[in-house]
Amino acid sequence: MRKLLPIITSHQGSGNRSALTCRFRCGDACFHEVPNTSDNEYVGDVIAGALSRRSMMRAAAVVTVATAAGSAVVAGPAAPEAAAAPQKPASHKSKKGARGLRFTPVAPNTADTVTVPDGYAQNVVIRWGEPILRGAPAFDPDKQTAKAQAGQFGYNNDFLSLLPLPRERGRQVLVANHEYTDEILMFKGYDAEKPTREQVEIAWAAHGLSVVVVEEERRSGKLSAVTRHQLNRRLTATSEFRLTGPAAGSEYVRTKADPRGTTVLGTLNNCAGGTTPWGTTLHGEENFNQYFANAEKVTEPTAAARLKRYGVTGAASERKWERFDDRFDLAKEPNEANRFGWVVELDPYDPDSTPRKRTALGRFKHEAAQPRLTHDGRPVVYMGDDEKFDYFYKFVSSKRVAKGKSRAAHEHNLTLLDEGTLYVAKLTGDSPAADIDGTGKLPADGEFDGSGVWIPLATAGPKGHAVSHVEGMTAEEVYVFTRQAGDKVGATKMDRPEDVEPSPHTGKVYVALTNNSDRGKAGKAGADEANPRNLNKHGQVLELTERLGRAESTSFAWSLFLVAGDPEDPATYFAGFPKDKVSPISCPDNVAFDPHGNLWLSTDGNQLGSHDGLFGVATKGERRGELKQFLTMPNGAETCGPIIQDNRVLVSVQHPGELDGASAEKPASAWPDGPGKIVRPSVVSVWRKDGCDIGV
Ligand code: FEO
Ligand code: CA
Ligand code: CA
Ligand code: CA
Repeated sequence: MRKLLPIITSHQGSGNRSALTCRFRCGDACFHEVPNTSDNEYVGDVIAGALSRRSMMRAAAVVTVATAAGSAVVAGPAAPEAAAAPQKPASHKSKKGARGLRFTPVAPNTADTVTVPDGYAQNVVIRWGEPILRGAPAFDPDKQTAKAQAGQFGYNNDFLSLLPLPRERGRQVLVANHEYTDEILMFKGYDAEKPTREQVEIAWAAHGLSVVVVEEERRSGKLSAVTRHQLNRRLTATSEFRLTGPAAGSEYVRTKADPRGTTVLGTLNNCAGGTTPWGTTLHGEENFNQYFANAEKVTEPTAAARLKRYGVTGAASERKWERFDDRFDLAKEPNEANRFGWVVELDPYDPDSTPRKRTALGRFKHEAAQPRLTHDGRPVVYMGDDEKFDYFYKFVSSKRVAKGKSRAAHEHNLTLLDEGTLYVAKLTGDSPAADIDGTGKLPADGEFDGSGVWIPLATAGPKGHAVSHVEGMTAEEVYVFTRQAGDKVGATKMDRPEDVEPSPHTGKVYVALTNNSDRGKAGKAGADEANPRNLNKHGQVLELTERLGRAESTSFAWSLFLVAGDPEDPATYFAGFPKDKVSPISCPDNVAFDPHGNLWLSTDGNQLGSHDGLFGVATKGERRGELKQFLTMPNGAETCGPIIQDNRVLVSVQHPGELDGASAEKPASAWPDGPGKIVRPSVVSVWRKDGCDIGV
């Protein structure tokens, strides 16, 4: 029998995150007033004609009693050296599962290591602090400096992208986001009330992005960093970024230091992202609100309401950066916060390029930005706004991708995300509102499903000219205060839209909705067909089918692909697959596809008593909905940034050891380097010991 682990209920802010994670990651967003207080209707209010209704029989066939879910629970003392963790004999010859998912699932567990399936091996590709630029010193946590950090891999790696490097055999370009810093775990003796200038400047340098070339070991999935490669690069909270598109230069983004409103120092809280077909990477700026102080001193009602809608509140900021740079003090520089919350586009192949903040994609707490192309070659970018009751969006470019490797084609492609239309999603359920009772019980038609429309917010044209489609808002207001635009047009309040990604095989789009502990609370929106559980602890994954399969369509059908949780819980759903044959999953966050078209999901904040993990699930065929856990994280860590290649799985191990009461002196994890060593967020590669491809 699968051993159920005790359900942890001690900290109910967001999933099962520690208080430390809530504090440093998103500025305790879950404990502040929900920023969306608009009175948009929700899905359950409207009954629309049936769309894409599937058989009730499949739902009726769901078995609600879970039995064995694979390999034994891994528990006990921490593995001191994850890379060298002993592996059991291979049992990967099992042909159970969809192609790409034929591995023995890892059971839920609380081991302080990266636990991978039998027959698989792993290595730490790169750790926080490893030098990547010429001249950067070796990492010494007791003697860390801002200068050293600026040449070293940043903290809390999140999104990862691997790009080809065809001229250098066996090498690829790894791009990583560094979402946030946890100073308590980084600095011995850290005093949160009195951070030193050096500590603050180290934190600035530990945020941002890294570009680092990695090299494969022959006949394995092992990767290692190539230090001092000419493409290696760090971008930090003080590097130069250019604002482009319709909000560049607007009155809302001009500051004393940048009166033209076009040049921003730094990128902050880069969470997930995407890789474009033209060889650049996209990086969402998520919980930027927490870095800005003295919002309470902004009393002009419109400005104050705008700050509040983005969760920018209070007096001193968590990290006290305002003491060291006035731009983080809204009383002194009220527009600086408007220069964050964008999607950044980086050209990793040009180490001298200035990355761009693409304002045509709107400003919110961007979780991710994943592009695909329309049938006529125009990029469409899907994006989530990770906040309780906030929205998800797409951008449709009006320009076609230029093919070829000429400089002119490249220059053209670097303008694709400046012109086009930004849309927000509105969903309608097809079941009677009375069928949605907030427990997660399937409605009478056997599915949480319905239709939806993409509501246009604004269209950007050449040279930053743009038109608003929202009554009472200028185009510049729509782009800078996109959340309010979504409120005005009645977008659907979702359960924290995280990563959004279209399947390269089917074109269907998957939206991870991670959880929403406030759904159905007094004064808050109640359950609806797309967000069918009140006090939603475990989240759901929505599958969206654009009309006629066209990415540029303005309407779509949708259904819930997964309603996450313990399969023994009747309020879960795995696309109709028998629930005694799936792994438990809680709080889906990042999504990715493997070369076979299976969806992979990483989790953040597991509320079922296990550590977070990475899962694969078939999206088509008779095994659709068969979810299998591939790996689990060390103590306190979240899984993010998954990349599934033929012969390797790459993941970020973010915020290991981030548990309440932990500190640099008193680590709560021995990962990755064993007891007595500082805990270091790192990138891990996993591969099959026999050299075969993943899951075949
Ligand atoms: Fe940074 Fe929404 O996770
Ligand atoms: Ca329905
Ligand atoms: Ca998350
Ligand atoms: Ca995330």
